[in-house]
Amino acid sequence: MRTIFFTGKGGVGKSTISAATAFQLSEKGYTVLAVSFDPAHNLGDIFGVRLGHRTKKFSSTLHLQEADLEKAAAEYIKTNTDILTEVYSYTKAFNLDMYFKVLRYAPGVEEYAALTALESVLKNEHAYDYIVIDTPPTALTLRILALPRITITWIDRLRRIRRDILDKRHTVHNITGAYVEDGVKLAYNANEDPVMSKLRELFDRYVSVAKYLESTNNKIVVVLNPDYLSLRESERIFKGLTDLNLPLTATLTNKYTDEKAGVADEMEAELFKLRDDDVSHARVKLQPYTRDDSYMIDYDLAGLLL
Ligand SMILES: Nc1ncnc2c1ncn2[C@@H]1O[C@H](COP(=O)(O)OP(=O)(O)O)[C@@H](O)[C@H]1O
Ligand SMILES: [Mg+2]
Repeated sequence: MRTIFFTGKGGVGKSTISAATAFQLSEKGYTVLAVSFDPAHNLGDIFGVRLGHRTKKFSSTLHLQEADLEKAAAEYIKTNTDILTEVYSYTKAFNLDMYFKVLRYAPGVEEYAALTALESVLKNEHAYDYIVIDTPPTALTLRILALPRITITWIDRLRRIRRDILDKRHTVHNITGAYVEDGVKLAYNANEDPVMSKLRELFDRYVSVAKYLESTNNKIVVVLNPDYLSLRESERIFKGLTDLNLPLTATLTNKYTDEKAGVADEMEAELFKLRDDDVSHARVKLQPYTRDDSYMIDYDLAGLLL
């Protein structure tokens, strides 16, 4: 399985190009899932169909989906509050109920929810040859892509802290015997400690997502238009991708017209200075769309990315 992320400034044509690429790959016989992670979905509009959280068959080889990020956030919070309640069942000291109510508004929940939804999409690796992802605005996309690495770092810290706690419990155990609180014998051995095993599970999970995102099976394409605002946004994305050690596969000047040739040449010259030579580039012309056919693009996008 391969994944393709399209990123770029709002309005440059990420959704349109995602849809067109997915459609072209499916026409070549690959099984494809096109999924939108933009909270303001328009994948359904582009294909002229109604979409939701469940995948919908557009053709025998193309499935479409608009991820429900609100639902993903609710599920993310539910899973984590369940874990907390279970792990801390022996103590009421934290007044967790109050904390749970406001969690939905906590910074980072949006990103974790999107990442969790992305993980569940990536689990389909045997069902699809390609998963094409229409991303939310740049800043959010970069934060989602950065999240696995950031999470690995703090889980590592938490594991160290937890190990210290267990060591101290071990000392107490040696002096006073088994340490019991509300009838529950507390673990002092990492292998028996539920908190430690949860941390290990989370650590492994995020390492596997991070490795996948950094692998050559993951392609990231930056879309821009022949205008300087979208060029500047692309430069910021390049920097973000480099900082995050993520692969840039191609850049694409969309909505190109012959009148814009001069601007496009200048912009692309600036752009190419910042990228590696093996990154491919294409110009996609402004299409004369009629109605529900904006996924039809007169350019071999599939060929560019295969
Ligand atoms: N190559 C193109 N030719 C003509 N119109 C385009 C092209 N690419 C995108 N558009 C139009 O530009 C608008 C924004 O495109 P969209 O794909 O929604 O952008 P984004 O997802 O980046 O916000 C839409 O009206 C779309 O039909
Ligand atoms: Mg879009």
